[in-house]
Amino acid sequence: MRERIVIANWKMNGSREANALWVSNFLAEPVRLSCRTVVCAPFIYLPELTEACRNTAIEIGAEDVNENASGAFTGEVSAAMLADFGIRFAIVGHSERRRLYGETDNRVAMKAVTLVKNGIRPVICVGETLEERERGETPAVILRQLNAVLAVLKPESIGAIAYEPVWAIGTGKSADPATAQTVHAGIRARLVQAAPEAGKLTPILYGGSVTPENAASLFAEADIDGALVGGASLNAQSFYSIGEAL
Ligand code: G3P
Repeated sequence: MRERIVIANWKMNGSREANALWVSNFLAEPVRLSCRTVVCAPFIYLPELTEACRNTAIEIGAEDVNENASGAFTGEVSAAMLADFGIRFAIVGHSERRRLYGETDNRVAMKAVTLVKNGIRPVICVGETLEERERGETPAVILRQLNAVLAVLKPESIGAIAYEPVWAIGTGKSADPATAQTVHAGIRARLVQAAPEAGKLTPILYGGSVTPENAASLFAEADIDGALVGGASLNAQSFYSIGEAL
């Protein structure tokens, strides 16, 4: 049975007050969800959030990591430092980091390796731009990004793959379920090719304008095992509702 996971990517948002209110509102919801719920927040808030969510259904993750073990990398955070605070997941390769900070497929792969070495589950983002989709390059782009990781990690070491079409992020226009499922099925096929049994179990999450209104239709697809949620995750009740749909 594949794990079903909803992950909040708060990006560069939050405050100590807002974070505490978010946790309180989420934990006030009536029932425990049947899926794993993870909040990925800015580094500076991770210790306080980890403490606030100890012994609750909320797991805390990071939004990035440096691929080196330690050293002269001013301003960076290592996987060992994240593990120091009981961090369980970390997003790597988000399209905003690929676009804004020039992160390469290889660097993303190295980040995933250091996370696994420190007992943290990498959530690896892949996705095409609108121009790449319009040129019919989506399968090649996704495979190129995925192969860089599979060259250094087995599918069983991967926490999740997150398919995030760049053209759906922050636009309010999610990919339609069939379009997302087509890409997810291709990712699943490649994972199974790499590891016939383990490849069936790696969760594949969809990200890109997921809301409480469209979540159920996305989750009805065979290879969509959850979501990586940006804007809608900033509201605890909305994020909870997306988890309820899973
Ligand atoms: O990592 C998730 C994020 O990129 C999706 O953002 O606002 O479209 O849900 P949003």
